[in-house]
Amino acid sequence: MPIATHTGLTEKVFSFKPIDPPVEEIQPPPDRALFADPRKSALLAAVTKVKHLTPYIGTELQGVQLSRLDEKQRDELALLVAERGVVFFRDQDLTIEGQHEFTKHFGIQDRDPNQVDPRHVTILGRGGDIRSFQNASGAFAEYHSDHSFEINPPSYTMLRMVKSPEYGGDTIFTSQTALFDKLSPTFQKTFEGLHAVHSSENVFINTINSGGTTFRLPVRREHPLIRTHPVTSLKALFYNPAFVVNIAELKASESFHTLNFLRDHLHSADDLTVRWHWEAGSVAFWDNRVVIHRAIPGGYNTEEREGKRTAVYGERPYWDPNGKTLSEWQAENGPDEAPVVKLGLDGF
Ligand SMILES: [Fe+2]
Repeated sequence: MPIATHTGLTEKVFSFKPIDPPVEEIQPPPDRALFADPRKSALLAAVTKVKHLTPYIGTELQGVQLSRLDEKQRDELALLVAERGVVFFRDQDLTIEGQHEFTKHFGIQDRDPNQVDPRHVTILGRGGDIRSFQNASGAFAEYHSDHSFEINPPSYTMLRMVKSPEYGGDTIFTSQTALFDKLSPTFQKTFEGLHAVHSSENVFINTINSGGTTFRLPVRREHPLIRTHPVTSLKALFYNPAFVVNIAELKASESFHTLNFLRDHLHSADDLTVRWHWEAGSVAFWDNRVVIHRAIPGGYNTEEREGKRTAVYGERPYWDPNGKTLSEWQAENGPDEAPVVKLGLDGF
C-alpha cells in the first residue's frame, strides 16, 4: 500500500501568495547562559526542591514562580536548561503578557511560518492515530525540534499549558546530546561533518490543504548533522525526522538508510527520554537546539488541551571539532560533575 495517495500539489498550493518575505539570517545576542553563575546559587535559593526526572534529561523545579525570577536567576535558569535539556514547573501564575516579557530576556522573539500572533503560537490538542500518515497533525506526532528548517532555529523555547485533560496529551522530550554520545566512536566520526537537509515543504503543503494559515514560502536548509552547543561545548545530534529529507553528502540509498538508522536510534532511546504530563499552569522550558520532542495525540478530548509557546532565535547551527561528547566531558570532570547528572546543584 502506498504511504501517500496524493502529492498534495493542489490548486490552492499553486495559487499561494506569501504574506511575508523569506527569513534572513540574524545574529542573535549572546546566549544568556553565558552570563550565569555555574553554581546557580540565586536560582536555587528560590526553589524548595530540585527534582531530576531521569538521568539524562529533565529537571523539575518546585516551589518557585517564573514570574518572580530576576535577571540573574533567569540567566541561571538558561544554563540549567542548556545542561538538563528541559526544565519543568507546575502551578505557574505566569500570564500571556508575563510569558512574552519573560521570553524577551533570552533573545529575539522567533516567529514560525504558521504563527498568527507574532508573539506566541497557540498549541491545541491533537486527536487521531499516531501511526496514521493521512492525519493533518501527523508530522507533529513524529519527533521534531521546532522549525529546524530555518537559518536560526529556536533555542530557548517555552510551552505554558493553559488547560489540559486529566490524562492524555503528554509530551516526550529526548536528549540529542545523549543520542550522539551513545553512538559508537566510528559512527560519531562518520556523522561529524555531514549536513542534513531540513525542509518545510510538507508542513507548508499540509497547512494550505487543511485550511490553515501560513505566511512564507517553504524552504530547504542544510544544517550540520552534529552541532556544538555554544555554552556547554557539547556535541549533539541535530536530527529531525519530521523535516530532514536527505543527507547532503550521501548518495540516495546511503542517505535513505542513514535516516532510517537515525530514526530507529531515536525511537529506541527510552533511557534518554522524559515524558511530561501537563496540568493547567504547567510550564516546560527547553533548549530546542539539543532536545527533540513529540506530543502524543489521541485518547482524550482535544478541546481540553491548550498551551502558549514562545521561543527565541538561536545561533545558526555549527559544528566545532573541538567540542566534546558527553562521555568525554564526564571523563575529564568526573561523573559527579556531569552536566546530565547534577552540574552546579551541590547542596541540593
Ligand atoms: Fe513542537
